[in-house]
Order: sequence, then C-alpha cells, then structure tokens
Amino acid sequence: MDNTTTRPEQAEIRLAEYKPPVFLVDTVELDFDIRDDRTRVSSRLAIRRNPESAERNAPLVLNGQGQKLVAVRVDGRELAAGDYVLTDKTLTIRAVPDEGVVAIESDNDPAANTALMGLYAAGPMLCTQCEAEGFRRITYFPDRPDVQSRYRVAIHADEDRYPVLLANGNLVENGKEAGGRHYAVWEDPFRKPCYLFALVAGRLDKVADRFLTRSGREVLLEIYTEPGRSSETGFAMAALKKAMRWDEERFGREYDLDRFMIVAVSFFNFGAMENKGLNIFNDARVLGRADTATDADIAFFERVVGHEYFHNWSGDRVTCRDWFQITLKEGLTVFREQEFVGDMNSPAQERLRTVSVLRRVQFPEDAGAMAHPIRPASYQAVENFYTATVYSKGAEVIRMIQTLVGREGFRKGLDLYFERHDGHSATCEDFVRAMADANAIDLGQFMRWYAQAGTPVLDVTSRYDADSRAYTLEVEQRCPATPGQDTKEPFHMPLRLGLLDARGGDMKGDMVLKLRRPRETFVIEDVPEKPIPSLLRDFSAPVRLNYDYTDAELLVILAHDSDGFNRWDAGQKLFAKYALSGEALPDAFVTALRTVLMDKDLEAGTKAMTLTLPGEEELGLALIARGERIDPVAVCEKRRRVIKALAGALSGELWATYREIAAGLDEEASDGVARGQRSLKNLCLAYLHRAEPGKVAPVAARVVSGARNMTDKIACLDILVDGDAALAARALAEFAETFAGQPSIMDKWLGVQAAERHAGVLEKVRRLMAHKAFSLNNPNRVAALVGVFAGNPFGFHAEDGSGYRFVADVVERLDRLNPQAAARYAKPFLRWRDFDAGRQALMQEALRKLAALESLSINVREVVTKALG
Ligand code: PHE
Ligand code: ZN
Repeated sequence: MDNTTTRPEQAEIRLAEYKPPVFLVDTVELDFDIRDDRTRVSSRLAIRRNPESAERNAPLVLNGQGQKLVAVRVDGRELAAGDYVLTDKTLTIRAVPDEGVVAIESDNDPAANTALMGLYAAGPMLCTQCEAEGFRRITYFPDRPDVQSRYRVAIHADEDRYPVLLANGNLVENGKEAGGRHYAVWEDPFRKPCYLFALVAGRLDKVADRFLTRSGREVLLEIYTEPGRSSETGFAMAALKKAMRWDEERFGREYDLDRFMIVAVSFFNFGAMENKGLNIFNDARVLGRADTATDADIAFFERVVGHEYFHNWSGDRVTCRDWFQITLKEGLTVFREQEFVGDMNSPAQERLRTVSVLRRVQFPEDAGAMAHPIRPASYQAVENFYTATVYSKGAEVIRMIQTLVGREGFRKGLDLYFERHDGHSATCEDFVRAMADANAIDLGQFMRWYAQAGTPVLDVTSRYDADSRAYTLEVEQRCPATPGQDTKEPFHMPLRLGLLDARGGDMKGDMVLKLRRPRETFVIEDVPEKPIPSLLRDFSAPVRLNYDYTDAELLVILAHDSDGFNRWDAGQKLFAKYALSGEALPDAFVTALRTVLMDKDLEAGTKAMTLTLPGEEELGLALIARGERIDPVAVCEKRRRVIKALAGALSGELWATYREIAAGLDEEASDGVARGQRSLKNLCLAYLHRAEPGKVAPVAARVVSGARNMTDKIACLDILVDGDAALAARALAEFAETFAGQPSIMDKWLGVQAAERHAGVLEKVRRLMAHKAFSLNNPNRVAALVGVFAGNPFGFHAEDGSGYRFVADVVERLDRLNPQAAARYAKPFLRWRDFDAGRQALMQEALRKLAALESLSINVREVVTKALG
C-alpha cells in the first residue's frame, strides 16, 4: 500500500478554496470479482459536466490510489496509455465528452490492506470503509461528498468462503455461478456520496428481527457477526428498535429502506460507520453480554447503534458538501444520540457524562497545538479532524441553538433543514439558516462558534442591593488565543441560571441570559434576599466559568440546587480545590457527600458520578488556568490523597453501600439502573481499597475468579493491579487462561495492565507487546495497550522520558501499517507546552525524532509539524 509519502511539505487544503465539482456522476455500476489473490473492481460511471462548475474545459480528474489500473474505456472505446495521465493519486482523462460513460477496471489487494481504508480483510471477512476518502482506494472516482449517485453493485465470490454478500440498499438478484461461485446484486434507490458505499463478504452468522414504521411499512433488521457471536447481539437489536421508534417520535424521522443491516467486524479504525442501510461496526461497540463485556461497553452499544441509525437522516439523506463540514452531520448526530440516551435512561446522568467527557477530552484539545474550530478552515489529512471538538463541542453548539430557540423551535428548524436539503450536500450555514428562518431570529453572530477555536472563559461577578432588591451580574467573556487565531470576537451564547436563597430554595426559577458582548451587565429585580447564583445551569454553553464562590455557597448548591448539573458540578469544584491545594477535606464537605451517598431517592449512577473526582486531565487543566505547569505524576497523587481521605472518613457508609448493592444486584442485568448500581458498588470498593488495602484485596480477588459479570471482574482486577502484586499476578494469569480465545475480552486484560499507576508499567507493556493477545495490526489491540498507556501518568509521562520514546517508536512502526491509527498516538504530544520544563524538553525531543524521519504518512506528519510549530 502507498501509505507513506516522503514529501516534507504537505499543503494545507482550505475551506476558502472550495470549488464545485467539474463532473457529476449520476449512476454508478460496480462489479466486484472476489478472488483469493485479488479483487477486480469494474465500474461504469455515467458522467456529466456540472453546469455549476466555472471550469468549462477542465479534464475529468478521478481520485485513486493503492490499486492497480487495468483498463479505461470512454463510451466503450478502450484508452491507450497516452490518452490519460496516471499519478499515485489521480487519473486524468482529457478527451471526455460533456456527457458519457467512463468504465474502469482495477485490482485491489484486500489482504495486504493494513490501513483499513477501502476494501480490506477483517479477519475471515472482507469489508469496506470509505469515509472520508477510502472509496478512491477501491476504484477511480471523484471522491468527494458533493458528488451523489445511484449505485448498482454486483458481487461475485466463492460460495463456501463467502456465503454472505452484502451491499447498500435492496437485494435485487442472486444465484450460482460456475466453479462453486455465486453472486448477488444490490441496488440502492437513494442517491449517495461514495463515502457511504459499503460492501461485506464472508461467512457470517445473522440475527433477524422486524420493525413496523409509524406509516406501517415493515423493515427487516439484520445483525451479522463472525461465526459464534450472534448470542452477543441482544443489546444492539433492542437499541436499534428503540432508536427507530424514538427518531419517529422525537423528530418525526422515519426509516426509508426495506432493510437495515448492521455488520460487526473485528478490524476497524473507528467506532462504527453509517453506510446507507448497511452500518459497519467495530465489534467492540456492538457485541457483548454481561459476562463478556463491561457495563461501560454495553452502555456504548445503545449510544453507537443510535448514533449510526440517526445518521440515516442527519448524514445520509442530508450529507456534507465537503469535509470541512463534518460537524454538520457529526455534531448534530451526537446531539441526537445524547438526547436519545438521556430519554432511554436518565437525562440528568447523561448530561453529567457528556460534560465530563467534554472537559476531559475536548477542553485539552481546544487548548493544544492543533486546536481548531468545530469547522476547521484547513487541514492536511482530513482523518485527523474526526475529533472531540468536531463531535462533542459540535454537539454543544447544536444544544445551544436548542436552548436559544426552545425545543419546539428547534424541531421546526430541523424539519425545515431536512425539507430544504433532503437528497443534497449541505453546509453549516445551511443548517443555521434553517434554524434562524424557522424561528425568525438572527444567528449571524452565532456562526462564530463555527469559526473560532478555543474554550471561552466567562468571568462573573455580582452585587446585591438590599434596598432596591436588585441583583446585578457582570459577565465578561474572553477566549484564549489558539494557533492562527490571536484575537477573537465575542460569542453569542445562552447563560442559564437560577438564584438560590440561603437554604438552597429557587427564588426565581430558570432564566436564560443571552450573551453577545465582551462585557454585559444584567439586573434582576425583585430579589428578596442576597442570592447564591446557580450559574451555567445544565452547562448551557461550552465554556469555563469563573465565579468566586465560597465553600459554604458550593455546599448549598451541592445539597439543594434544583439543577442536577450544578449540584454535581459544585462537588467537582470542591474536589478540585482540595485536591490541588492539598488541604484536608473539611467536615462539611464530607458530610455533604455522606448525605448524597445515603440519599434514598437519588439514583445510584448519579451518586457514583457525584463521588467521582475530576479526572487527572481536568485537574491538570485547572493548573494551566492558574498559569502553572503540570507534573502528571504529582496530579495523580494529589487525586489519590483525596480519595484516601474520603474513604477513611466514609468507610462505614461505603462498605454498607457496597454490601447492600452486592447482595441485591443480578449479575446478568445490565440495564441502565443495574449499570448505575454496579458503578456505585465498584466505586465504593475502589475507594475503600485506598484506605484499607489489606481488607479489600481478598474481596477483589474472590470477585475476579468467582464473578460471571465482566464489569465486576475488571473493576476488581483494576483494584488488584493497583495494589497487591502477588494477588494481581495470580488473578491476571487465571484471567488470561480463561479468556485466551476471546480477543475483545483479552483487550481488557491488556488495558488493566497498561493502566497500572506505577513506575514499572513500561516494562510490562513492552513485554505485553510480544504476547499473543497483542497485534499491531488490530486497532482494538493497540488502543487497549498503547492507547491506555498513553493516558497513564506513570507510563507516558515517566520522568525519564522513556514513555515518550516508547510511544513515538510505536507511532513510527504503526505508521507503516495504519497511518490513521498512528496519528492518534502522536496526538498526546500536541500538549507538550502544558507540562513541566523537564517533560517539555523530552516530549519535544521525541517529536523531533519523528519529524526527522524520511518517510512518514501525511497523517502523522501533520500532527508532528503542528505540534512543533
Ligand atoms: N462517521 C462515523 C461516525 O458515525 C465515524 C467514522 C469516521 C468512521 C471516519 C470511519 C471513518 O461517527
Ligand atoms: Zn457519526
């Protein structure tokens, strides 16, 4: 594969330089002839000059790479080598009619495709991944989302090896062929961009079900897996039916084809892919039962199945004009996914989870060397921009629109968006315009969220005048400089708030202030007493908010605020303060947490979230906000100190909670309530382990060997690895023996060891890279071992630089196989400026060593140069 380039300077591709396609392709006929040593792809493209293109005489330029060109025909006439120009990236044909048929044959080698883009072998099966630019690895084509076509796809293969042959749309024909072969023909009645094309061939098990749409059409639902895993599809099938119903009820969106297929594959670069009618999933995001997957995995099944299904409207029916607009489909679809998961479980808990992920993952990205707006203005490798910013901050931007126009107004705007753009490629402007038009409001200033990077900061001060009963809030907004953006214009955003009396009662209900200027003053009249402001309720904007709360005020909010988000966040603020200052936890805070833990009416999941400290990343960012630099090992230890103190103080309650839940919880249950209970139970045990290791370790060891529930096993394995070396070694060995044949379970075993917060972790990870459970070729194995290690302060951030050198070395080796995956592990280096001087130097050294390599993919090259830049 041509995964690498030696070109040192890769040009930035710019949004401002967008031009409409020169040629359109109305219909595509594809023929896949799958053989043992290669797959021949024959295409027939009905092309036509685009009346919207200004380039009247430009030639036909098709993208194409990593395949062998066999023949080119134009209107039936075979071209000689001199009739076209072939480079490693394009096929250019000058002599083409304004309208005609181009036919191309080329050979793919899926077995050698380790990049997992285009057509590749995923264990025993063949599958495709085309977003963003994978289709060009299959056949020569104008590979851009503003070219939309109707597809007819024929697949021919050996019947014994590939009994199942799938593509998008409806199966229109199938049958036998000579030599033990067979074929299938699929037709997709909807026009689509080529990135939504998909094909799967292999020996697969299947589970089928049916769904009746609200207009009475019956849809066939199928989930395909590798042989032997169909018993792990239960959660996914249930989630799919719930998602289909929910999208009808909440957004009036009905499914449009007669068949909806999901295929679980064991080699995949991302979580899943929304190919029209044929979603392809990383098996880790869709397959599992309570005894094979953790609750965290299982929670993802519903989320990701919903997400990909929702793309059928927000992504497939209305797609993106170009790859700068990824957030148009991803921000919107993540928002829809969050609303779905909230409605199916607990909206309040879903919001806490969302915001804590945003702060942990997106805030650091927004403060790093590759900070970008939710719609980047330029890129080198588009795959580097499937980021937390585009996805999660993008969803927050959509949520702000909903807050500004209200739920009903949002629904009207979304209906108008789908009505205007159905079947077309759209831009972020199109979306915001539909929202503005449907609600008759001006969202011009709001568009800055699409153009400016960085996490805005709100500085809020207040005063109360007892005589006039007026409460005044001064709100200042600023946004830190980010690469290429030294100064920023003010954002338009909603600031939701409430005013609490001294006992925490709501004095005014919810109010939404609309911020537009750098500095604004709001006067709230008729306030009976000096209030405690409950600011940024429900996290109404993706910002950092500073307000000088006293501890006593935060305790009132934690105990009484009607807003679940701010209750949780008050606890987070107090935790961060005590963790970073090293002060002892005051009794009042411990008492407040005890009250939360013992509250009979509060959901277990919310209790667990409330008792969970801000993560190491968040605490690190808090240091940066104060102008300090991060020593990640010290941060980890500060965090542990608080946990230990808390566990000491609440020991009785933690044990009681642990025992009560353990006695009543069904090991096989993994619904939202059971997941919440299990998370609280295991949090209790992990906290207790900090204070009473000798008492907890034997309990944990018994769970690892005796439990059938995977969440419990892994939680307790984590505890052992964090403490008792002898018990840990025994438990790990036993676990490996039990699950040796199940790679996705062994990933957890790898991850637990890579997470060990101990200086010896690098040596262990090195040894595990040689273990048969590991393979550099499989992204899930690499994520389990290297990905987890890269988030381990004692591993990646080891003071001697060994962790940096190790990860850089993996990046170099992985880059030759899978550039997209490799770039992911180069990204932690983007934050080198945040760390102490010693670590800064060592991180830069690792980066420079990578930058000096002759041959590096564009993906890794972009990250490395921008990190150093
Ligand atoms: N579009 C996929 C999603 O639903 C993500 C993805 C991007 C998958 C690129 C593969 C390649 O979020
Ligand atoms: Zn998506």
